[in-house]
Amino acid sequence: MDWHRIRSDFPILDQQVQGHPLVYLDSAATSQKPRTVIQALSHYYERDNSNVHRALHELSARATDAFEVARKKAAHFIGAASENEIIFTRGTTEGINLVANTWGTQNLRQGDVILVTGMEHHSNLVPWQLLAQRTGAVLKHIPVLDDGTLDNEAIDTLLTEQVKLFAFVHISNSLGTINPARELCARAKAVGVVTLVDGAQSAGHMPIDVQDLGCDFFVLSGHKMCGPTGIGVLYGRMALLETMPPWHGGGEMILSVSFETSSYKPPPHRFEAGTPNIAGVIGLAAAIDYLEGIGLENIQRHDHNLANYAVQRMSEVPGIRILGPQSGHRGSLVAFHLDFAHPHDLVEFANSHGIAMRGGHHCTQPLMKRFKVPGTTRASFYFYNTLEEINRLVEVLFAARAFFT
Ligand code: ALA
Repeated sequence: MDWHRIRSDFPILDQQVQGHPLVYLDSAATSQKPRTVIQALSHYYERDNSNVHRALHELSARATDAFEVARKKAAHFIGAASENEIIFTRGTTEGINLVANTWGTQNLRQGDVILVTGMEHHSNLVPWQLLAQRTGAVLKHIPVLDDGTLDNEAIDTLLTEQVKLFAFVHISNSLGTINPARELCARAKAVGVVTLVDGAQSAGHMPIDVQDLGCDFFVLSGHKMCGPTGIGVLYGRMALLETMPPWHGGGEMILSVSFETSSYKPPPHRFEAGTPNIAGVIGLAAAIDYLEGIGLENIQRHDHNLANYAVQRMSEVPGIRILGPQSGHRGSLVAFHLDFAHPHDLVEFANSHGIAMRGGHHCTQPLMKRFKVPGTTRASFYFYNTLEEINRLVEVLFAARAFFT
């Protein structure tokens, strides 16, 4: 693979920040966008902009076609059995809230258990807390071991028939841990538990096949996989989607409306009230085309090499504590704590050298408490990053050590 040529597809990366070449290491927060995605957005607004599913005129037909082709592409991208299992959302957070408010409200009762893990992002925690408060259900979590993996023995104890839903992150945004999603879904299925996999950090980084994973729901955010912000996908197994009531009411999701009552379209349209983010969907389709053009296996391999090289090189910095798996199977991010600098100070220092990272609790406050750190600094990579950029990061970490001590 010619990764340097691929990097040149991202115009934003070719700039100086604070007098230094930009080193963008914050892709876990949001990825950068290749030229083809940017062009798809401007093409849509310059040539085809119109509302979908409504008018019979040419522009509306073009917009509707592009929108529904994107649904097919999204289905293929994650291995769904049908495009009707693809619901467009604003992103991972909205997808999880949709499941909590529809399937959750309909199925959870007093005393039922919602199981999550100790490494969930707040978006896969707070919606379940709200659901538990509404229904009297109980929220439990699988503890995280010191090495950043799930406590396997605790899974046996916690994953019982009392559990109605097991919602877990595929790749942790704060540890880089890759959870064994297929195995976890199989264990849940064996005791009749519905599963939701949070794919915010895995989609676009590795091949995803929801049927092979065996999950009931899968959520992803377009902006973390080269697509625009404000667009995401909720996959739901059709047998479940068909039983779920709508969440948002409005236009586009109904079959008929009277003052007394309304009847609703089948999935996915039942869950897509109002004018959708049409440009976002078209941009997401362009992102999928782009990623598939490179190949998800190639991206995964490159991610893996970057992450392992980073762990190895960053370990040279005295006073560093790297959270999560130390080698081998891990996602393409490295969260760390330095005994000589607060994460916010370090992120500012790195910024003055042109390096973009994120510092803080990364929306996983319970996990920070578990590891007894106020927060961490996180360098997160994508296929457009290079080994030279990791070398530059390590250089700057050494410079920070000299500066802060
Ligand atoms: N969830 C995103 C992150 O981890 C915002 O940075």
